[in-house]
Amino acid sequence: MKAVVITSPGGPEVLQVQEVENPRIGDDEVLIKIGATALNRADTLQRKGSYPPPEGASPYLGLECAGTVESVGKNVTRWRVGDEVCALLSGGGYAEKVAVPAGQVLPVPRGISLIEAASFPEVACTVWSTVFMMSRLSAGETLLIHGGSSGIGTFAIQIAKHQGARVFVTAGSQEKLTFCKGLGADVCINYKTEDFVARVKEETGGKGVDVILDNVGGPYFQRNLNSLNVNGRLFIIGFQGGTVTEANLGCMLARRLTVQAAGLRTRSPENKALIVSEVEKNVWPAIAAGKVKPVVYKSFPLYEAAEAHRLMESSNHIGKILLIP
Ligand SMILES: NC(=O)c1ccc[n+]([C@@H]2O[C@H](COP(=O)([O-])OP(=O)(O)OC[C@H]3O[C@@H](n4cnc5c(N)ncnc54)[C@H](OP(=O)(O)O)[C@@H]3O)[C@@H](O)[C@H]2O)c1
Repeated sequence: MKAVVITSPGGPEVLQVQEVENPRIGDDEVLIKIGATALNRADTLQRKGSYPPPEGASPYLGLECAGTVESVGKNVTRWRVGDEVCALLSGGGYAEKVAVPAGQVLPVPRGISLIEAASFPEVACTVWSTVFMMSRLSAGETLLIHGGSSGIGTFAIQIAKHQGARVFVTAGSQEKLTFCKGLGADVCINYKTEDFVARVKEETGGKGVDVILDNVGGPYFQRNLNSLNVNGRLFIIGFQGGTVTEANLGCMLARRLTVQAAGLRTRSPENKALIVSEVEKNVWPAIAAGKVKPVVYKSFPLYEAAEAHRLMESSNHIGKILLIP
């Protein structure tokens, strides 16, 4: 089969389509013929050599896909050859075929095309597991999403609104904020021209928000703590600004704050299967009802993976970028 190979760690130009061996499936796995895969920010880190695949994972990029089941392992009962599915991967999406544990496979949501379905597995599993399963955001609470126009952000806005939360977002341009507003965001903050802490305080009568989903890390740590309400929860899923910081933790005690962080990729297959089943139960009906829509900015053929990475690293996109083998 054809797959995108990282010829050596480096810039987007190191990505090249090459002929590689077909993946072999285990007894509990499904082989998917890929119709589309989607980029994730982590792919750019893996390309540069700073985010190696976990042990046993495919050496190729790609954390999610949609496609058609081509064969199933002998212990797999739910999926049949020919089923149209999408899947959460530990790697291997930038290819024509991928082997994946059956527990990480989902049906294509009703009303969504096979290609668009590739935009959902990673964002849905990340946001559902962090904001809802771990931080337990509930209806009536407030959520601040940093990077509101990102793949993660555009999904998080929609599902949090659907769950009855009041949603705040930050983004780096008016165009991105207007898009977030169109998805349902209530309070849109341009972090380049406004102080998000002051704006959060102003919009919440001085209280702060209940949950923050953060992709920036170190440079935002103190300001995130300062933006939280009593019993507030800060959830860190990325370190786009860096991992190191110095902070005054005094406010954590007084306001009983929780700080948590988690990655999806290194979880066990059992743990991923649990998240995937919760996503199917809680998120798939919202997609089928049209309450959560795919946000696809642009699709590229697989052989233009380098161009797709350049677009992601420019941060000019809104939502997801797809690759079509
Ligand atoms: N923990 C997990 O399991 C997990 C899973 C998936 C994703 N993530 C993380 O979630 C974040 C979003 O991922 P994604 O795939 O949705 O990314 P994405 O679509 O590429 O969006 C990232 C956005 O972050 C903003 N940004 C903020 N600071 C930045 C900086 N220093 N450099 C570049 N951009 C910056 C940019 O928008 P502005 O113009 O508004 O700055 C950019 O569009 C990433 O940090 C990713 O690593 C974590």
